[in-house]
Amino acid sequence: MAKKLFIPGPVEVHPDILQAMATPMIGHRMPEYADLHGRVTAGLKRLLATESRVFLATSSAFGVMEGAVRNLVGSRCVNFCNGAFSDKWHDVTKRCGKEADAVKVEWGEPITAEVVDRALATGKYDSMTLIHNETSTGVMSPLPEIAAVLRKYPEVVSIIDTVSSMSALSIPVDELGIDCCIFGVQKAFALPPGLAVFTASEKALSRARTVEGRGYYFDFVEFETNDAKNNTPSTPCISLIYALDRQLGRMFGEGVEQRWARHREMASFVRGWVAERGYGFFAAEPYRSVTLTCAVNSRGTDLAALKKMLAERGYAFDDGYGKIKGKTFRIPHMGDMRRQDLEEFLAVVDDCLGGLPG
Ligand SMILES: Cc1ncc(COP(=O)(O)O)c(C=O)c1O
Repeated sequence: MAKKLFIPGPVEVHPDILQAMATPMIGHRMPEYADLHGRVTAGLKRLLATESRVFLATSSAFGVMEGAVRNLVGSRCVNFCNGAFSDKWHDVTKRCGKEADAVKVEWGEPITAEVVDRALATGKYDSMTLIHNETSTGVMSPLPEIAAVLRKYPEVVSIIDTVSSMSALSIPVDELGIDCCIFGVQKAFALPPGLAVFTASEKALSRARTVEGRGYYFDFVEFETNDAKNNTPSTPCISLIYALDRQLGRMFGEGVEQRWARHREMASFVRGWVAERGYGFFAAEPYRSVTLTCAVNSRGTDLAALKKMLAERGYAFDDGYGKIKGKTFRIPHMGDMRRQDLEEFLAVVDDCLGGLPG
């Protein structure tokens, strides 16, 4: 039996989306693909509130996260680190042969505007990476405040991961001045994995043109050239792009502001459950993520046993990530999920907890 996913990505995929994935295949050099590509990128520009180029890459998010570093880091990069994915991005930056420094704060802490300002004020960097919503810790860093600081440093190209936040709240890419905004589709977009979306400002594209060693598969200049023809450098995951087309229609049908409100409401419901059951929060307010809650296992629940019990009842549960596995657990509230789904899931969790010590 397939388990119902209550993990922070991939998340449950709506049957309409699975049906869109079954659309008969087309060739990516056929006019039908150009129509699809043009429609999808126009929808993404509307959703992201950007006039920048929006590109579709056939890969998981880390493909583009690596690609962005290869394209946009000229002299030296600062990687802001506050969890597993941002720590890994620093490692990836170094593995690409780039000069890079990590500015680390404790897991559970946000990257604040002050932290960004202090690092950039050194004048050492021409690029920076930041994860808006650290999925490993459930921390959402304050993007508008950070964006205000970035305006002081026009020489710095900003590369921002919105992998687990894009579409769940307002992230107006141009207003925030994000040069390269990256996300995968298996989280708040609620599509199957395998497609990553990214934007590139004029500043980002100008930088890419001057940087050597961009490779081919994620060369931003190749993406720009092909996008001008509503196309991609290599054969894209056409079925997923059909799914994205359908999902954008569903998002605009729901209304983006309603979608943001639904995410806020689900977050508040889950936080209420966590507090009532006597668990703690790994993130402090106002930095708790709107798309997942990372709870501290302050009751000492046997999370491995809970996960097993939930699996037997048909639910996939997450018992923490990386070095905080077992000490924390994460409850997602993103994508096409509704409050009723969370009510159903948490009632089963309560039932299982009743059979466990602690
Ligand atoms: C914030 C964040 N960034 C990056 C990634 C990596 O994404 P992918 O596995 O799609 O490469 C994840 C995956 O969970 C994530 O949550």
